Amino acid sequence: MTNATFSHDDVRLDLPLVPASQGNNGYDIAKLLGATGDTTLDVGFANTASCCSAITFIDGDAGILRYRGYPIEQLAEQTTFLEVAYLVLYGELPTQTQLDEFSASIAKYHVIDERMREMFRTMPRKSHPMPVLSASINALSTFAVSRYGEDAFDLDRATHILLGSVPTLAAYGYKNSVGQPFLYADETLSYIENFLRMSFGLPTGPYPFDDDITRALDVLLILHADHEQNCSTSTVRMVGSSGANIYVSIAAGVSALSGPLHGGANQAVLEMLKGIRDEGGDVHSYINKVKDRKDTTKLMGFGHRIYKNYDPRAAIVKKHADSILRTRSGTQDELLDLALQLEDAALSDPYFQERKLYPNVDFYTGLIYQAMGFPQNMFTVLFALGRLPGWIAHWREQFTDPATKINRPRQVYVGEVERPFVPIDQRG
Ligand code: CMC
Repeated sequence: MTNATFSHDDVRLDLPLVPASQGNNGYDIAKLLGATGDTTLDVGFANTASCCSAITFIDGDAGILRYRGYPIEQLAEQTTFLEVAYLVLYGELPTQTQLDEFSASIAKYHVIDERMREMFRTMPRKSHPMPVLSASINALSTFAVSRYGEDAFDLDRATHILLGSVPTLAAYGYKNSVGQPFLYADETLSYIENFLRMSFGLPTGPYPFDDDITRALDVLLILHADHEQNCSTSTVRMVGSSGANIYVSIAAGVSALSGPLHGGANQAVLEMLKGIRDEGGDVHSYINKVKDRKDTTKLMGFGHRIYKNYDPRAAIVKKHADSILRTRSGTQDELLDLALQLEDAALSDPYFQERKLYPNVDFYTGLIYQAMGFPQNMFTVLFALGRLPGWIAHWREQFTDPATKINRPRQVYVGEVERPFVPIDQRG
């Protein structure tokens, strides 16, 4: 491995190679602007590493995803979400004692400040739950600081507050939208059980748990726990790089996640499937629409900036969708069948083959969330619950990295050059 040399006109510049432990190395271009007076242009950052990170490894061509070196398939099969959260955050799988202490500390924060509960009632019933979640995490920053002390930068405490409180905020956003009473967490229940009960339970009686559903949600959250420098995680890092606290940085990440090209795709997939069903169920005419250059329709839940192969998370979700949906209703789920037909049609079509477009994690998740009883607009909130450990881990990694600087990209200016001011009565 050697450094690269940049050469242009009479400038020759050594670009030091920053070696990766696996995957793409990086060329350090920090001196380019000073040496040449010019910058680099990389729209959408498709070719730019913004940092060095030791949390998650993805090989998009081979369809590999590992958290802290552990393959996603093994974690999804053998761990729980809180175990994975600990791993993502602290770099090692916890011992039983460490996990018990971690879980107990997080559970303390399921109960939020009473005034925050009231805050949810001020939100319109029909609000989309993603901005409600983002707003409530911003509010959590003020409550956490005033309730637990002034130091929002006590990172372990902030980590536990966020992991403990965000499921409650997510559930209360939902409860407000359906006009039901808010429930307090129950200390005898697990993390996932508490979230399900706070979302769907009523104070009038016990909540009937279904172990398959509880485990499926656990696995889905594991699959979403981190995904290196995606749009929302980069947003969290960007906001945090200015010195903003971890809560408000994560609230910004929730907003970034809400878009349909990112986490919002899980809601968009279900809307797409229902649309195809309502139009008569012809997947081939939908595929033709997607391929039509004059039409902007996309096959939602397909394609990925990094994966040019089957998204390993999608493969795991697909298995769970099949077992949850087929066994639950006792009948073939028509939307699952449509999704399978759509996948087959796309994977055998040259348009998708040439562009290496495969199902991503969002293609099948909505079907499972729907089977669990969540309305479509809650799907991306579930993605956010899963991604929370990743966002926190990245914020912490950046905060403790001596190389961190405020994130401040350059631009190539293409606007007007200097011109004389025109008074208003001479314009037109
Ligand atoms: N349907 C149809 N064509 C597509 C799709 C799609 N879903 N995705 C990419 N393409 C085409 C795109 O039009 C382009 O074609 P051409 O070269 O002829 O112009 C080519 O494939 C390359 O696509 P791109 O838009 O340059 O790729 P990108 O890396 O900028 O975008 C993406 C990645 C995920 C935004 C995009 O694939 C997409 O919009 N997918 C649908 C939305 C979706 O499912 N998002 C969830 C992503 S996974 C979970 C997450 O990160 O939140």
